[in-house]
Amino acid sequence: MSRIAIIGGTGLTSLHGLEITGREVAQSPYGEPSGVLIHGRFAGHEVLFLPRHGSGHTIPPHAVNYRANIWVLKEAGAEKVIAVNAVGGIRADMEAGSLVIPDQIIDYTWSRKNTFFEHDHDPVVHVDFTEPYCHELREKLVAAAEPAGLKVFDGATYAATQGPRLETAAEINRLERDGCDIVGMTGMPEAVLARELELCYASICLVVNMAAGRGDGEIRMADIEQHIAGGMKRVRRLLEHALSLI
Ligand code: HPA
Repeated sequence: MSRIAIIGGTGLTSLHGLEITGREVAQSPYGEPSGVLIHGRFAGHEVLFLPRHGSGHTIPPHAVNYRANIWVLKEAGAEKVIAVNAVGGIRADMEAGSLVIPDQIIDYTWSRKNTFFEHDHDPVVHVDFTEPYCHELREKLVAAAEPAGLKVFDGATYAATQGPRLETAAEINRLERDGCDIVGMTGMPEAVLARELELCYASICLVVNMAAGRGDGEIRMADIEQHIAGGMKRVRRLLEHALSLI
């Protein structure tokens, strides 16, 4: 069975139900990953777990060392990576609480280290990114919804924004015109770095708020936190069922 890694996002800094069998202070040539790499068993399966924002949720999206995180997972033997991302809903039916398995990305981030191929003397590499997520892994996440008794949206375009601020209403209108359905700050460059290291990578997105200008007024952190608390239980249930299909 291939080794599976889970990258926890906002609201998933620890994985309830994970039986920890080891903690590894992993190093990378690109600097420090977000924290200690957890080895363990979840729903009867061997997994690696890394919280993207650190165990105390102190690393903001633009400051995450995405290269170090992906590198240490690959080094630890991961072949498949399931990322969990909190997002805002742009499409009206992708309301707070929804689970979405995106199939496309538009990258609006800037100044992030977005490649492993950066040295002048290396041959130039242009990875194919037509389909940014691993098809087989996406299918398993979607298939897990039924036995888990959950509804997921199969396919969406994820807008990756720079943050850490939320967007303006006009920016969200523009993202919608571009064809984006959900918006988050952590989807890139994580997905492309995984592709560069030939990892099979897919994402479970939890909608924690309606995007700017789509809800009733200001986006309140208290509301987001409420949706995270309830939603992450469902993310865990989806993960449990997905692992048994992989
Ligand atoms: N915008 C960007 N990132 C997010 C949002 C949002 O509305 N909600 C959660 N992450």
